[in-house]
Amino acid sequence: MPEITKSEILNTLKKIDDPNVDKKHFLLNSIKKLDLRENDLSLDISIPVPQTAINEELKNKLANAIKEDFPQLQNIKVNILAKITSHSDKRKDAILPGVKNTIAVASGKGGVGKSTVAVNLAVALAKDGANVGLIDADVYGPSIPLMLGIKERPKVYQRDGKVVMHPLENYGIKMISIGFLVDDDAPVIWRGPMASGAVKQFMSDVDWSELDYLLFDMPPGTGDIQLTLVQTIPLTGAVIVTTPQEVSLIDARKALKMFNRVNVPVAGVVENMSYFLAPDTGKKYDIFGFGGGEKLSKELHVPFLGGIPINPKIRIGGDKGIPIVFDLPDTEYSEIIMDISRNLAEQVNLINLNAVSKVEILLDNDED
Ligand SMILES: Nc1ncnc2c1ncn2[C@@H]1O[C@H](COP(=O)(O)OP(=O)(O)OP(=O)(O)O)[C@@H](O)[C@H]1O
Ligand SMILES: [Mg+2]
Repeated sequence: MPEITKSEILNTLKKIDDPNVDKKHFLLNSIKKLDLRENDLSLDISIPVPQTAINEELKNKLANAIKEDFPQLQNIKVNILAKITSHSDKRKDAILPGVKNTIAVASGKGGVGKSTVAVNLAVALAKDGANVGLIDADVYGPSIPLMLGIKERPKVYQRDGKVVMHPLENYGIKMISIGFLVDDDAPVIWRGPMASGAVKQFMSDVDWSELDYLLFDMPPGTGDIQLTLVQTIPLTGAVIVTTPQEVSLIDARKALKMFNRVNVPVAGVVENMSYFLAPDTGKKYDIFGFGGGEKLSKELHVPFLGGIPINPKIRIGGDKGIPIVFDLPDTEYSEIIMDISRNLAEQVNLINLNAVSKVEILLDNDED
C-alpha cells in the first residue's frame, strides 16, 4: 500500500470548515509529526490559537475528515497543540524578549470605548488560555486600574542592580498603568518624549515574564504623542476602535493612516456601541447609525473584527472594576467579545505568517 504523505493529509485538513482551521495559512506550517505504522496514524498538529479554543469537537472533526479520505486507516490519533505564533522583530526581541506579540488598541476619537474594549479583549484572550499583559498608555486619562478593580500600586525591587517593577494582576492578566507614575490630583502635561519614556520603561523595567499578547491602551487621537508612542513600541499590529457615526469614522480613518505611515499592520477594526438590543422586546436599535465600522474596513482593506452593542451592563462592568467577559460570561455581549478576541488572535497569526518568508513555508511543507 502506498505511504500516505504529509501533503495528502494536509490537503484533507485544508478542506475542514472550522473557524480555527479554515484559514489556509493555519495549516501550512502546522503538521509537526506524522507517524504512520501499518494502519495506525498519529498526528501532531499545532494550531496558533489559545489552548481552550481547541476542543474535542475540533479533534473529532480532524480525525473524521482523515478517516473519510483514508478509509484504510484503522486508528487515527490527533494531538493538537496550541502554539501562538510570535512576531519576529529585532526591536521587540531586544526590549520585550519574553513577549510574542504587541498590540495597540487605538482610536481616532476619545470616548469611543477603547479602554473598555482593551480590557475585555485582554481578559477574553486570557480566558482562552493565553498569557496576557496590558499597558495603560493613555496619558490623558489612565482608566485601566479602575476597570480592572485594581487599587494597589506595583511593587518595585532590585534585580542585578536594576530596578524592576512587578505588574499587578487581576482576572488572569498582568497590568501596569501610566496612572501609577502620576498623582491623581496633580495633572501632568505630557509631551511626546515624556510619554514614550514612560512607556519604554514599562516595556523594559516591568517583569512581564512570558506573554503571548501584550496590549497597549493608547491615548485617543493621532497627534504628536500618539505618533511618538507608535514609533516607540515595537508593534505587531493595531486594533482601531470606532463607533458607527460619521464623526467617529473620520477620526478612525486618520488613526488607520497613522499606523500605515509607521508600517504597523492594522489587525482589525472593532465597532463599539454598534446597536442597542431592547431587553424587553429584543428589538435592535441602531442608535449611532448602522454598519459604519464594517464599511470603513472594506474601504480601507483591513479586517473587521466585530461589533459590540451598547448596553448598560458593559458600562457597569467598567465602573465596578469587573469586566463583563469575566462577570457575565454567558451573556451575548460576552460571547460577542470572545468572538472578537478570537478573530484578533487569528489576524495576529496571519500578520506573523505573512512576515515569514513564503519560501520557508513551502519548504517546511513536505519534509519527512
Ligand atoms: N458597548 C458599550 N456599552 C455601554 N457603555 C459602554 C460601551 N463601551 C464603553 N462604554 C462606556 O462608555 C464610556 C467610555 O468608554 P471608555 O472609557 O472605554 O472609552 P475610551 O475610548 O477609552 O475613552 P478615552 O478616550 O477617554 O480614553 C465608559 O463609561 C464605558 O463604560
Ligand atoms: Mg480610555
